[in-house]
Amino acid sequence: MSTTYAITVDGHLDDHGADRFRGLGIARNDDGTSILTGPITDQAQLYGVLAALSGIGATLLSLRVIEPAPSPVLDRPLHTDRLTIRPAKAEDAEATWSFRRLDAVTEWLTSRPAGFDDWRTVFSAPARLATTAVVELDNTIIGDLMLRREDAWSQQEVAGQATGTQVELGWVLDPAHTGRGYAAEAAGELIRYCFEDLGVRRIVAVCFYDNEGSWRLMERLGMRREQHGVRDSLHRNGQWLDSLGYAILAEDWKPTRP
Ligand SMILES: CC(C)(COP(=O)(O)OP(=O)(O)OC[C@H]1O[C@@H](n2cnc3c(N)ncnc32)[C@H](O)[C@@H]1OP(=O)(O)O)[C@@H](O)C(=O)NCCC(=O)NCCS
Repeated sequence: MSTTYAITVDGHLDDHGADRFRGLGIARNDDGTSILTGPITDQAQLYGVLAALSGIGATLLSLRVIEPAPSPVLDRPLHTDRLTIRPAKAEDAEATWSFRRLDAVTEWLTSRPAGFDDWRTVFSAPARLATTAVVELDNTIIGDLMLRREDAWSQQEVAGQATGTQVELGWVLDPAHTGRGYAAEAAGELIRYCFEDLGVRRIVAVCFYDNEGSWRLMERLGMRREQHGVRDSLHRNGQWLDSLGYAILAEDWKPTRP
């Protein structure tokens, strides 16, 4: 199996004799550096490239491994009567910012971005995109959903059987579109996808106790209140607040759509 590297050197490398770099791509930057990128199969090949760079007197500035982008948990668009739920793209940062910037939305969320640039960086990180879906109504994004596949807790000897058996869901809707059942419709379809298509055995969701809109949604989705944490969660206002944990098992889930 190969690993993808990015090797930055001082100066502009020319294409002449590029075969010494074992097929790695060469990009020349405006700041006068060059980056070699591509797959390298073993240490011997890596040393060969580094020796070739040293041989032409290039100064090595950095060498890093490029992690492969994680595959999205939702791998295709889903459709309900009124909505489309599709994997998020980096370009969706702007549309989601229109509601993600609102205090009414971030009140109960884990983070409150400092501004659009901050949000774009957070939203477009590969790991974030892989666990985010956007909700579209008539081709307009009205919300975003989190679906994070995770391992259930298990004892060590059976850990393999618990791998990827659970999904944590989260939801955010543009306040201009709440109170119409869109969150329940979109999250309900994700629950169906998780049970029927991914084959997970349990879906969980958590929220502050005071976030009534969120736990009422969990109940509308048929989830069961399993945990009430007492003053276990610190709000950014400095207060320790109660939290709630809900879950639904595949065996308790009833499809609501034909
Ligand atoms: C949590 C959140 C997604 C819930 O959104 P929501 O619109 O209240 O939830 P639903 O889409 O299920 O809509 C339910 C409401 O629509 C009403 N409704 C109207 N038409 C409907 C229809 N056709 N079908 C179903 N419900 C309908 C329901 O009666 C219900 O109203 P009620 O709240 O007055 O009882 C939303 O409040 C939100 O984004 N909050 C901010 C972000 C947040 O806190 N996220 C969770 C962090 S843990």
